[in-house]
Amino acid sequence: MEIIYNIRKKAAGLKRRIVLPEGAEDRTIRAAEFLIAEGIADVILLGARGRIQDQAARYGLRHVLEAPIVDPYRIDPADEERYIELMVSLRGSKGVTREVAARQLQEPLYLGAVMVKAGDADGEVAGAVSYTGDVLRPALQYIKTAPGISVVSGTFIMRIPDKSYGDMGTMLFADCAVSPEPTAQQLAEIAISTARTARSIVGLEPRVAMLSFSTRGSASHPSVDKVREATEIAQRMDPNLVIDGEIQADTAIVPDIADRKAPGSRLDGRANVLVFPSLEVGNIAYKLVQRLAHADAIGPVLQGLASPVNDLSRGCSIDDIINVVAITACQTE
Ligand code: ACO
Repeated sequence: MEIIYNIRKKAAGLKRRIVLPEGAEDRTIRAAEFLIAEGIADVILLGARGRIQDQAARYGLRHVLEAPIVDPYRIDPADEERYIELMVSLRGSKGVTREVAARQLQEPLYLGAVMVKAGDADGEVAGAVSYTGDVLRPALQYIKTAPGISVVSGTFIMRIPDKSYGDMGTMLFADCAVSPEPTAQQLAEIAISTARTARSIVGLEPRVAMLSFSTRGSASHPSVDKVREATEIAQRMDPNLVIDGEIQADTAIVPDIADRKAPGSRLDGRANVLVFPSLEVGNIAYKLVQRLAHADAIGPVLQGLASPVNDLSRGCSIDDIINVVAITACQTE
Protein backbone atom coordinates (compact mmCIF):
# COMPACT_ATOMS: atom_id res chain seq x y z
CA MET A 1 0.00 0.00 0.00
CA GLU A 2 1.54 3.29 -1.11
CA ILE A 3 0.60 5.29 2.00
CA ILE A 4 2.30 2.80 4.29
CA TYR A 5 5.34 2.56 2.03
CA ASN A 6 5.72 6.34 2.15
CA ILE A 7 5.24 6.46 5.93
CA ARG A 8 7.89 3.76 6.50
CA LYS A 9 10.28 5.56 4.17
CA LYS A 10 9.75 8.90 5.88
CA ALA A 11 10.21 7.29 9.32
CA ALA A 12 13.52 5.77 8.19
CA GLY A 13 14.74 9.23 7.27
CA LEU A 14 13.84 10.55 10.72
CA LYS A 15 15.61 7.84 12.78
CA ARG A 16 13.45 8.31 15.88
CA ARG A 17 13.67 6.39 19.18
CA ILE A 18 10.38 4.67 19.94
CA VAL A 19 9.81 2.99 23.30
CA LEU A 20 7.89 -0.31 23.29
CA PRO A 21 6.59 -1.02 26.82
CA GLU A 22 5.43 -4.53 25.88
CA GLY A 23 9.03 -5.48 25.12
CA ALA A 24 8.74 -9.19 25.91
CA GLU A 25 5.56 -9.69 23.88
CA ASP A 26 6.03 -12.06 20.97
CA ARG A 27 4.78 -9.90 18.07
CA THR A 28 6.40 -6.79 19.52
CA ILE A 29 9.85 -8.34 19.76
CA ARG A 30 9.66 -9.62 16.17
CA ALA A 31 8.43 -6.20 14.97
CA ALA A 32 11.35 -4.63 16.84
CA GLU A 33 13.81 -6.83 14.93
CA PHE A 34 12.38 -5.71 11.58
CA LEU A 35 12.25 -2.03 12.61
CA ILE A 36 15.91 -2.01 13.61
CA ALA A 37 17.09 -4.17 10.72
CA GLU A 38 15.30 -2.00 8.14
CA GLY A 39 16.32 1.25 9.87
CA ILE A 40 12.69 2.39 10.25
CA ALA A 41 13.20 3.40 13.89
CA ASP A 42 15.46 2.79 16.86
CA VAL A 43 13.53 0.97 19.55
CA ILE A 44 13.83 0.78 23.32
CA LEU A 45 12.26 -2.35 24.79
CA LEU A 46 10.83 -2.35 28.30
CA GLY A 47 10.67 -5.56 30.29
CA ALA A 48 12.78 -8.15 32.08
CA ARG A 49 16.16 -8.13 30.32
CA GLY A 50 16.75 -11.90 30.68
CA ARG A 51 13.34 -12.76 29.27
CA ILE A 52 13.67 -10.44 26.27
CA GLN A 53 17.20 -11.65 25.50
CA ASP A 54 16.24 -15.33 25.86
CA GLN A 55 13.38 -14.84 23.41
CA ALA A 56 15.59 -12.90 21.00
CA ALA A 57 18.21 -15.63 21.12
CA ARG A 58 15.60 -18.37 20.61
CA TYR A 59 14.13 -16.65 17.53
CA GLY A 60 17.54 -15.56 16.22
CA LEU A 61 16.70 -11.85 16.46
CA ARG A 62 20.23 -10.52 16.42
CA HIS A 63 19.32 -6.81 16.25
CA VAL A 64 17.09 -7.09 19.33
CA LEU A 65 20.00 -8.68 21.22
CA GLU A 66 21.86 -5.39 20.83
CA ALA A 67 18.88 -3.06 21.38
CA PRO A 68 18.52 -0.97 24.53
CA ILE A 69 16.37 -2.68 27.16
CA VAL A 70 15.08 -1.00 30.31
CA ASP A 71 13.83 -3.29 33.07
CA PRO A 72 11.19 -1.39 35.12
CA TYR A 73 12.46 -3.17 38.24
CA ARG A 74 16.11 -2.30 37.56
CA ILE A 75 16.09 1.25 36.21
CA ASP A 76 19.47 2.96 36.29
CA PRO A 77 19.42 4.88 39.63
CA ALA A 78 20.33 8.23 38.04
CA ASP A 79 17.54 7.85 35.46
CA GLU A 80 15.08 6.72 38.11
CA GLU A 81 15.81 9.79 40.22
CA ARG A 82 15.37 12.04 37.18
CA TYR A 83 12.04 10.40 36.32
CA ILE A 84 10.74 10.59 39.89
CA GLU A 85 11.58 14.30 40.13
CA LEU A 86 9.86 14.94 36.82
CA MET A 87 6.76 12.98 37.82
CA VAL A 88 6.43 14.72 41.18
CA SER A 89 6.95 18.14 39.60
CA LEU A 90 4.23 17.40 37.02
CA ARG A 91 1.68 15.68 39.25
CA GLY A 92 2.58 16.47 42.85
CA SER A 93 -0.62 18.51 43.08
CA LYS A 94 -2.55 15.39 41.97
CA GLY A 95 -1.11 13.31 44.81
CA VAL A 96 1.96 11.86 43.08
CA THR A 97 4.56 11.59 45.84
CA ARG A 98 8.04 10.08 45.37
CA GLU A 99 6.65 6.74 46.57
CA VAL A 100 3.73 6.85 44.12
CA ALA A 101 6.08 7.82 41.28
CA ALA A 102 8.51 4.99 42.11
CA ARG A 103 5.62 2.51 42.11
CA GLN A 104 4.24 3.81 38.81
CA LEU A 105 7.67 3.47 37.19
CA GLN A 106 7.50 -0.27 37.78
CA GLU A 107 4.57 -0.34 35.34
CA PRO A 108 5.96 -0.37 31.79
CA LEU A 109 3.14 1.80 30.40
CA TYR A 110 3.95 4.53 32.94
CA LEU A 111 7.69 4.13 32.49
CA GLY A 112 7.32 4.45 28.70
CA ALA A 113 5.24 7.63 28.94
CA VAL A 114 7.66 9.19 31.43
CA MET A 115 10.66 8.32 29.24
CA VAL A 116 8.98 10.17 26.37
CA LYS A 117 8.24 13.14 28.61
CA ALA A 118 11.85 13.15 29.85
CA GLY A 119 13.13 13.19 26.26
CA ASP A 120 14.70 9.71 26.51
CA ALA A 121 12.39 8.47 23.74
CA ASP A 122 10.63 10.33 20.92
CA GLY A 123 7.40 8.35 21.02
CA GLU A 124 5.70 5.26 22.41
CA VAL A 125 3.68 2.35 20.97
CA ALA A 126 1.80 -0.20 23.09
CA GLY A 127 -1.50 -2.03 23.22
CA ALA A 128 -0.71 -5.48 21.80
CA VAL A 129 -1.69 -6.88 25.20
CA SER A 130 -3.06 -3.79 27.01
CA TYR A 131 -6.42 -2.03 26.95
CA THR A 132 -6.73 1.33 25.16
CA GLY A 133 -7.49 3.13 28.42
CA ASP A 134 -4.40 1.70 30.13
CA VAL A 135 -2.16 2.84 27.28
CA LEU A 136 -3.76 6.29 27.15
CA ARG A 137 -3.98 7.19 30.84
CA PRO A 138 -0.22 7.52 31.57
CA ALA A 139 0.20 9.53 28.36
CA LEU A 140 -2.68 11.84 29.23
CA GLN A 141 -1.33 12.30 32.73
CA TYR A 142 2.37 12.86 31.98
CA ILE A 143 2.84 13.74 28.31
CA LYS A 144 -0.27 15.90 28.18
CA THR A 145 -1.65 17.69 25.13
CA ALA A 146 0.11 19.75 22.47
CA PRO A 147 0.08 23.56 22.72
CA GLY A 148 -3.34 24.95 21.75
CA ILE A 149 -5.02 21.54 21.99
CA SER A 150 -6.84 20.29 25.09
CA VAL A 151 -8.23 17.02 23.80
CA VAL A 152 -6.63 13.81 22.54
CA SER A 153 -8.47 12.04 19.75
CA GLY A 154 -7.99 9.13 17.37
CA THR A 155 -8.13 9.20 13.58
CA PHE A 156 -8.50 6.32 11.17
CA ILE A 157 -6.96 6.65 7.74
CA MET A 158 -9.55 4.92 5.56
CA ARG A 159 -8.61 3.44 2.18
CA ILE A 160 -11.88 2.97 0.36
CA PRO A 161 -11.91 0.79 -2.77
CA ASP A 162 -14.23 3.26 -4.56
CA LYS A 163 -11.68 5.85 -5.65
CA SER A 164 -14.34 8.51 -6.30
CA TYR A 165 -14.44 9.38 -2.57
CA GLY A 166 -11.96 11.59 -0.72
CA ASP A 167 -8.58 11.77 -2.43
CA MET A 168 -8.48 8.70 -4.66
CA GLY A 169 -10.31 6.72 -1.96
CA THR A 170 -8.32 8.05 0.99
CA MET A 171 -10.23 9.74 3.81
CA LEU A 172 -9.63 10.47 7.50
CA PHE A 173 -12.31 9.74 10.12
CA ALA A 174 -12.19 11.25 13.65
CA ASP A 175 -12.67 10.89 16.57
CA CYS A 176 -13.14 7.13 16.44
CA ALA A 177 -11.17 6.16 19.52
CA VAL A 178 -10.86 8.45 22.53
CA SER A 179 -13.28 11.20 23.62
CA PRO A 180 -16.83 9.98 24.21
CA GLU A 181 -18.72 13.29 24.27
CA PRO A 182 -16.68 16.22 23.00
CA THR A 183 -17.78 19.80 23.65
CA ALA A 184 -17.95 22.28 20.75
CA GLN A 185 -14.45 23.51 21.64
CA GLN A 186 -13.11 19.93 21.75
CA LEU A 187 -14.83 19.06 18.47
CA ALA A 188 -13.14 22.07 16.88
CA GLU A 189 -9.76 20.92 18.22
CA ILE A 190 -10.40 17.41 16.88
CA ALA A 191 -10.96 18.99 13.44
CA ILE A 192 -7.72 20.97 13.70
CA SER A 193 -5.73 17.93 14.91
CA THR A 194 -7.15 15.73 12.13
CA ALA A 195 -6.33 18.33 9.49
CA ARG A 196 -2.74 18.29 10.80
CA THR A 197 -2.63 14.49 10.65
CA ALA A 198 -3.95 14.62 7.08
CA ARG A 199 -1.09 16.90 6.10
CA SER A 200 1.76 15.41 8.12
CA ILE A 201 1.07 11.69 7.92
CA VAL A 202 -0.96 11.18 4.74
CA GLY A 203 0.21 14.15 2.69
CA LEU A 204 -3.35 15.31 1.93
CA GLU A 205 -4.59 18.89 1.85
CA PRO A 206 -7.58 18.58 4.23
CA ARG A 207 -11.18 19.42 3.30
CA VAL A 208 -13.02 19.00 6.58
CA ALA A 209 -16.71 18.10 7.00
CA MET A 210 -18.20 18.60 10.47
CA LEU A 211 -20.88 15.93 10.30
CA SER A 212 -24.40 16.09 11.71
CA PHE A 213 -27.89 14.86 10.90
CA SER A 214 -28.60 18.38 9.64
CA THR A 215 -27.29 20.48 6.74
CA ARG A 216 -27.38 24.25 7.07
CA GLY A 217 -30.18 24.32 9.61
CA SER A 218 -32.37 21.64 8.00
CA ALA A 219 -32.99 20.35 11.55
CA SER A 220 -32.74 22.07 14.88
CA HIS A 221 -31.39 20.40 18.00
CA PRO A 222 -28.74 21.23 20.61
CA SER A 223 -26.38 18.68 19.03
CA VAL A 224 -26.75 20.46 15.67
CA ASP A 225 -25.94 23.78 17.35
CA LYS A 226 -22.86 22.16 18.89
CA VAL A 227 -21.50 21.06 15.51
CA ARG A 228 -22.21 24.50 14.00
CA GLU A 229 -20.43 26.21 16.89
CA ALA A 230 -17.49 23.79 16.61
CA THR A 231 -17.15 24.65 12.92
CA GLU A 232 -17.01 28.37 13.73
CA ILE A 233 -14.38 27.80 16.45
CA ALA A 234 -12.24 25.64 14.14
CA GLN A 235 -12.43 28.27 11.41
CA ARG A 236 -11.26 30.92 13.88
CA MET A 237 -8.44 28.64 15.03
CA ASP A 238 -7.30 28.15 11.42
CA PRO A 239 -8.81 30.74 9.06
CA ASN A 240 -7.23 29.03 6.03
CA LEU A 241 -8.73 25.62 6.76
CA VAL A 242 -11.28 24.40 4.21
CA ILE A 243 -14.12 23.34 6.49
CA ASP A 244 -17.92 23.24 6.42
CA GLY A 245 -20.56 22.28 8.95
CA GLU A 246 -22.99 21.36 10.16
CA ILE A 247 -23.37 19.07 7.17
CA GLN A 248 -24.81 15.60 6.50
CA ALA A 249 -22.52 12.81 5.37
CA ASP A 250 -23.96 12.47 1.85
CA THR A 251 -23.77 16.22 1.29
CA ALA A 252 -20.16 16.16 2.42
CA ILE A 253 -18.96 13.45 0.05
CA VAL A 254 -21.27 13.41 -3.01
CA PRO A 255 -20.90 16.43 -5.35
CA ASP A 256 -24.41 16.12 -6.87
CA ILE A 257 -26.05 16.16 -3.46
CA ALA A 258 -23.82 19.03 -2.31
CA ASP A 259 -25.02 21.03 -5.36
CA ARG A 260 -28.60 20.59 -4.23
CA LYS A 261 -28.34 20.73 -0.45
CA ALA A 262 -25.34 22.98 0.15
CA PRO A 263 -24.73 25.10 -2.95
CA GLY A 264 -21.54 27.12 -2.59
CA SER A 265 -20.12 24.80 0.10
CA ARG A 266 -16.33 25.08 0.22
CA LEU A 267 -16.24 21.29 0.26
CA ASP A 268 -18.11 20.93 -3.00
CA GLY A 269 -19.13 17.40 -1.97
CA ARG A 270 -15.46 16.36 -1.90
CA ALA A 271 -14.60 16.19 1.80
CA ASN A 272 -11.59 14.03 2.67
CA VAL A 273 -11.74 14.53 6.47
CA LEU A 274 -14.91 13.56 8.32
CA VAL A 275 -15.30 14.76 11.91
CA PHE A 276 -18.06 12.92 13.78
CA PRO A 277 -20.13 14.57 16.51
CA SER A 278 -19.28 11.91 19.12
CA LEU A 279 -17.08 8.88 19.70
CA GLU A 280 -20.12 6.64 19.45
CA VAL A 281 -20.83 7.77 15.89
CA GLY A 282 -17.19 7.81 14.83
CA ASN A 283 -16.38 4.37 16.16
CA ILE A 284 -19.49 2.78 14.63
CA ALA A 285 -19.01 4.60 11.31
CA TYR A 286 -15.43 3.51 10.73
CA LYS A 287 -16.24 -0.11 11.55
CA LEU A 288 -19.23 -0.15 9.20
CA VAL A 289 -17.27 1.42 6.34
CA GLN A 290 -14.42 -1.01 6.97
CA ARG A 291 -16.77 -4.01 6.77
CA LEU A 292 -19.47 -2.96 4.28
CA ALA A 293 -17.21 -1.10 1.84
CA HIS A 294 -14.21 -3.43 2.34
CA ALA A 295 -12.08 -0.45 3.29
CA ASP A 296 -8.67 -0.65 4.98
CA ALA A 297 -8.71 1.19 8.29
CA ILE A 298 -5.24 2.30 9.41
CA GLY A 299 -5.15 3.47 13.01
CA PRO A 300 -6.27 4.76 15.33
CA VAL A 301 -3.60 7.42 14.94
CA LEU A 302 -3.69 9.26 18.26
CA GLN A 303 -3.42 13.00 17.86
CA GLY A 304 -3.28 16.01 20.13
CA LEU A 305 -0.58 14.74 22.52
CA ALA A 306 2.54 16.85 23.07
CA SER A 307 4.63 13.83 21.93
CA PRO A 308 3.23 10.87 20.01
CA VAL A 309 1.87 7.75 21.63
CA ASN A 310 -0.12 5.16 19.71
CA ASP A 311 -2.31 2.32 20.80
CA LEU A 312 -2.36 -1.06 19.04
CA SER A 313 -5.31 -3.35 18.69
CA ARG A 314 -4.86 -6.51 20.78
CA GLY A 315 -5.46 -8.44 17.57
CA CYS A 316 -2.59 -6.65 15.80
CA SER A 317 -0.13 -8.38 13.53
CA ILE A 318 3.65 -7.87 13.45
CA ASP A 319 3.13 -5.73 10.36
CA ASP A 320 0.58 -3.57 12.19
CA ILE A 321 3.11 -2.89 14.94
CA ILE A 322 5.78 -1.94 12.38
CA ASN A 323 3.35 0.45 10.67
CA VAL A 324 2.17 2.06 13.90
CA VAL A 325 5.78 2.61 15.00
CA ALA A 326 6.50 4.22 11.63
CA ILE A 327 3.44 6.47 11.98
CA THR A 328 4.53 7.40 15.50
CA ALA A 329 7.99 8.34 14.24
CA CYS A 330 6.43 10.54 11.55
CA GLN A 331 4.24 12.28 14.15
CA THR A 332 7.34 13.62 15.90
CA GLU A 333 7.84 16.10 13.07
N1 ACO B 1 -7.84 14.42 26.02
C1 ACO B 1 -6.99 15.03 26.89
N2 ACO B 1 -6.94 14.75 28.21
C2 ACO B 1 -7.81 13.82 28.66
C3 ACO B 1 -8.73 13.16 27.83
C4 ACO B 1 -8.71 13.49 26.45
N3 ACO B 1 -9.51 12.91 25.55
N4 ACO B 1 -9.44 12.30 28.58
C5 ACO B 1 -8.98 12.40 29.85
N5 ACO B 1 -8.00 13.33 29.89
C6 ACO B 1 -7.18 13.72 31.04
C7 ACO B 1 -8.01 14.11 32.24
O1 ACO B 1 -8.28 15.49 32.21
C8 ACO B 1 -7.08 13.73 33.38
O2 ACO B 1 -6.11 14.71 33.57
P1 ACO B 1 -5.59 15.02 35.06
O3 ACO B 1 -5.40 13.70 35.75
O4 ACO B 1 -4.32 15.76 34.84
O5 ACO B 1 -6.67 15.82 35.70
C9 ACO B 1 -6.34 12.50 32.86
O6 ACO B 1 -6.46 12.56 31.43
C10 ACO B 1 -6.93 11.20 33.33
O7 ACO B 1 -8.31 11.31 33.11
P2 ACO B 1 -9.37 10.31 33.68
O8 ACO B 1 -10.72 10.89 33.44
O9 ACO B 1 -9.00 9.93 35.06
O10 ACO B 1 -9.08 9.09 32.77
P3 ACO B 1 -10.07 8.02 32.37
O11 ACO B 1 -9.92 6.90 33.32
O12 ACO B 1 -11.44 8.52 32.14
O13 ACO B 1 -9.49 7.63 30.95
C11 ACO B 1 -9.72 7.64 28.61
C12 ACO B 1 -9.49 8.51 29.84
C13 ACO B 1 -8.81 6.43 28.70
C14 ACO B 1 -9.33 8.39 27.36
C15 ACO B 1 -11.19 7.23 28.56
O14 ACO B 1 -11.95 8.36 28.21
C16 ACO B 1 -11.49 6.14 27.59
O15 ACO B 1 -11.36 4.98 27.97
N6 ACO B 1 -11.96 6.48 26.36
C17 ACO B 1 -12.45 5.52 25.41
C18 ACO B 1 -11.35 4.66 24.86
C19 ACO B 1 -11.94 3.52 24.13
O16 ACO B 1 -12.29 2.52 24.74
N7 ACO B 1 -12.08 3.67 22.80
C20 ACO B 1 -12.74 2.71 21.94
C21 ACO B 1 -11.85 1.59 21.58
S1 ACO B 1 -10.58 2.06 20.50
C22 ACO B 1 -11.07 1.44 18.97
O17 ACO B 1 -12.08 0.88 18.79
C23 ACO B 1 -10.17 1.74 17.87
